[in-house]
Amino acid sequence: MTHDATRDNRNPAASRLDEAADAACSAMEETREQLRMAHGQLRAFADDLGRTVLDLRASRAELERSYLDTLNRLTLAAAYKDDDTGDHILRMAFYSEGIAAALGMHADGLRDLRVAAPMHDVGKIGTPDAILLKPGRLTPEEFAVMKHHTTIGEKILTASSSRVVRIAATIAGTHHERWDGSGYPRGLSSEGIPLEGRIVAVADVFDALTSKRPYKPAFEFDKALGIMREGRGTQFDPRPLDAFFEIAGELWAARDEVSSGLRTGENTR
Ligand SMILES: [Fe+2]
Repeated sequence: MTHDATRDNRNPAASRLDEAADAACSAMEETREQLRMAHGQLRAFADDLGRTVLDLRASRAELERSYLDTLNRLTLAAAYKDDDTGDHILRMAFYSEGIAAALGMHADGLRDLRVAAPMHDVGKIGTPDAILLKPGRLTPEEFAVMKHHTTIGEKILTASSSRVVRIAATIAGTHHERWDGSGYPRGLSSEGIPLEGRIVAVADVFDALTSKRPYKPAFEFDKALGIMREGRGTQFDPRPLDAFFEIAGELWAARDEVSSGLRTGENTR
């Protein structure tokens, strides 16, 4: 006697219950199979999505590298007339970033400053060679022309759609302002000068003092520090200047690494 025949002999209610249970079992099996398929599809979808995200990240990183490389090369081109090695550009990046880090600036700000600070003198592209490369002190008239590199740089960089280039515009326009208001081009003072400009002012003067220029020899480290200390609260904002003094030895060591080619724009901290 078959199983079904056994069922047929039982009371109809029990038989309907069994049929309902069978139907429920097969429905559950069908649902389980559908879930298995859906799970497989979801896993494949997740794998595709993961690969797409990785591809997008790689593309974005490549785009950012190209963008930074282009900015760096334009900055080098602008500086080429009076800095054919590009060392000043590199030093300005890590001096400025180092001072900002000692001040406790957040990581995004440090990265922006590292990229933007080297563009501070981009306006020198509009300074006549006779003035830019003059071996000797500038006359008052020549110095007045030289001062325009701040506003020229600001004009070149301002209104960019890139945040970091707008920061560079601010730096170009304010890195020769002085804490006491006696700087140029606008005679801004104290906190009226954007912090980035006050930081780059410290970095720029330190690099100028310790570098050979057409009108002066490179000063020794201690002599440069002494001159900078005299500018505390007059030429320089005391906060970034004090931060600079905290790490001056480290910056000096890094300066030697730049000169020997150990540091590049890629690995500058
Ligand atoms: Fe400058």
